[in-house]
Amino acid sequence: MKLTNFWINISGKGSSNTPHTHSGLTYSGVFFIKVPKEMKGGRFLFYRNFNEADFISTEYMGHFKEGYQMQGYDYPINTISPKENMLIVFPAWVPHAVEINLSDKERISLSFNFKLNRSF
Ligand SMILES: [Fe+2]
Repeated sequence: MKLTNFWINISGKGSSNTPHTHSGLTYSGVFFIKVPKEMKGGRFLFYRNFNEADFISTEYMGHFKEGYQMQGYDYPINTISPKENMLIVFPAWVPHAVEINLSDKERISLSFNFKLNRSF
């Protein structure tokens, strides 16, 4: 197992991550370093495994688009409210997103990817 990359997310008010996967990798994860005490929005969402092409479409913004009417397939299958020092590790192919941060304070997290290298 090899750590392929990692990065820091500083998510201020209004920031979000639209649905995506980390294709080609094995495991992904996020560690929440700083979470506002009164976090509004900003939950971590896992989705059903629908077509990845939808995620890269410029028209597809799901419920991240103002005024968008939620469709049945838009609903996440699991939602997690981030807390400081919480670690989430998941298969890299699982579609996920982060809701809009409605808090006035920043949320800071560390994200990373692992890849399993097979030598046979
Ligand atoms: Fe991600």
